[in-house]
Amino acid sequence: MCGIVGYVGSEPAGPIVYGGLENLDYRGYDSAGVALVEEPLTIAKRTGEVSELEVPGAPGATCGIGHTRWSTHGPPTDPNAHPHTGQTDEVAVVHNGIIENYESIKEELQEAGHDFSSDTDTEVIPHLLERELENGHDLLSGLETVVDMIEGSYAIAAVRAGHDRIVATRHESPLVVGHGDDASFLASDVTAFLDRTRDVTYLEDGDIARLEAGSVTVYRDGDVIDRDVETVEWDADAAEKGGYEHYMRKEIHEQPTALRQTLSGRVDVERGGVDLDVAFPQGYLESLEEIQLVACGTSYYASQYAAQLLEEFADVRATVDIASEYTFDGGRDPWRTLVIAVTQSGETADTLGAIRRAGGAGARTLAVTNTLGSSVTRETDDALFIRAGPEIGVAATKTFASQVTTLALLAADIGRQRGTLAATDAREVLEHLRSLPGAIQQVLDEEARVVAGAEQFVDADAFFFIGRQFGYPVALEGALKLKEIAYDHAEGFAAGELKHGPLALITDETPVLSVLTEGARPAETLNNVTEAQAREAPAVGVTDGTVETDSLDLTLEVPEIGALTPLVANVYFQLFAYHVADLQERSIDKPRNLAKSVTVE
Ligand code: M6R
Repeated sequence: MCGIVGYVGSEPAGPIVYGGLENLDYRGYDSAGVALVEEPLTIAKRTGEVSELEVPGAPGATCGIGHTRWSTHGPPTDPNAHPHTGQTDEVAVVHNGIIENYESIKEELQEAGHDFSSDTDTEVIPHLLERELENGHDLLSGLETVVDMIEGSYAIAAVRAGHDRIVATRHESPLVVGHGDDASFLASDVTAFLDRTRDVTYLEDGDIARLEAGSVTVYRDGDVIDRDVETVEWDADAAEKGGYEHYMRKEIHEQPTALRQTLSGRVDVERGGVDLDVAFPQGYLESLEEIQLVACGTSYYASQYAAQLLEEFADVRATVDIASEYTFDGGRDPWRTLVIAVTQSGETADTLGAIRRAGGAGARTLAVTNTLGSSVTRETDDALFIRAGPEIGVAATKTFASQVTTLALLAADIGRQRGTLAATDAREVLEHLRSLPGAIQQVLDEEARVVAGAEQFVDADAFFFIGRQFGYPVALEGALKLKEIAYDHAEGFAAGELKHGPLALITDETPVLSVLTEGARPAETLNNVTEAQAREAPAVGVTDGTVETDSLDLTLEVPEIGALTPLVANVYFQLFAYHVADLQERSIDKPRNLAKSVTVE
């Protein structure tokens, strides 16, 4: 997730674009940059937050674009910062999203003599655009042609030296246009320019827009089309949260988009293949004896989910350790143990300590993280990025889903390479992964039912979450969310363990929330729910219809997608925790005593 800004009008563009970037820094803060339209273009960009960028004076430039970056391809460095230019510096481009086929395009351009100065996927766009200008196109028709060549998700804005206009397009990444009296604005979201105009047009996938001072023209398939102008009523704070009251709820709702990014360009269903940017040395996977995952909190529960997938797909022993408790025990040849540090931030001190111990003992190490350039990526042999975009709420939500998804891809990839996952089985797994965003959207569409459930149970004495198999880590994660943001007593249990002690805590004031889906041994779990109901506990169950749930107090439905069904069920638990906390007016995004990134041991 990056932030894009554009302005064309009658005032100096530099300060306006810069102001827009400041408003979008929650979308990423790895680097920032602007391109101001003069002849030639004036470009300034650097790593670091927007506040570290010095925008050139350029008082004569009344058109410009800007970018604040959340790295996906290439680490946060000055050359990787946007805007990017091509061979002749005639055009500058900013981009949010991922160009999936950039490698083949880059190769072709390099063979044709183009030099590249960054590691990004984005840089192919200005090179292609310049080539189309040379072929006689203008910037608009050039962009139309380039869009036909690229695959992936993107919001793109481009400017050309000496021409006061911006052209822009989108596919699966947000882009909104603002209409001023004598000016036009462009941004990834309205927060960027809300202080200047509230009249906006949300572009749709496939739209190509041309912005000039005070006029915006939208094209589709070469024809001019009308798009509605809407007036935004939100204040700036609400707009930054996409109209949601809290980042946490926004991030819960971002999961379908985040997962599309996680999966983008990595899945080839037909071939039953996975394409990750991690290359193990030849023969390494065949000689692999064990995979150890180390993590904390939500990342630990994601690892518990993933370990089961790794054992199933890759037929390799997989263990999970709480990072602060981890000691490396790697047998006679430590290199044959792959140790994976799973950490959203990449900065968790306990996880860094664990991976250092593993690397120091001679194990091969891999980071699975959301944060390019984070400390963990410097400690490990390889890094794999979950691409969830920035997560601001202290409670991890979308990153849990993206972690499990990324690790599921890794498990399938290792399984394919070790020959333990047949192509037909891999195809089924990849189909399920591909249907995850849609399945989660179905849950999000049922939020009103969760609100009703939260109202019913908000005054409960305690909450118990139970599940088996993949439902077990989901139960643990569901309880953690509720503890963390509602400050209510909540515990997660392996469903079968309830009768070995915790059942003594059950009363009519302790709701039991259960995962009753494929991948969570629903029939056996339902027996444990019945045991709790016999002690008068109210019962809430997430089901995909495989077991009869008529006797439950609240049943929440999910579509069945194999081993990933409990991951979909988890979204109900996230929403439940959110609404219970909201009813109690808790400090949801910044719960007491907690920090987003825990950098002390
Ligand atoms: O950044 P990390 O994934 O390493 O963070 C690990 C935990 O601190 C984190 O998951 C924490 O448990 C969350 N606040 C849970 O919502």
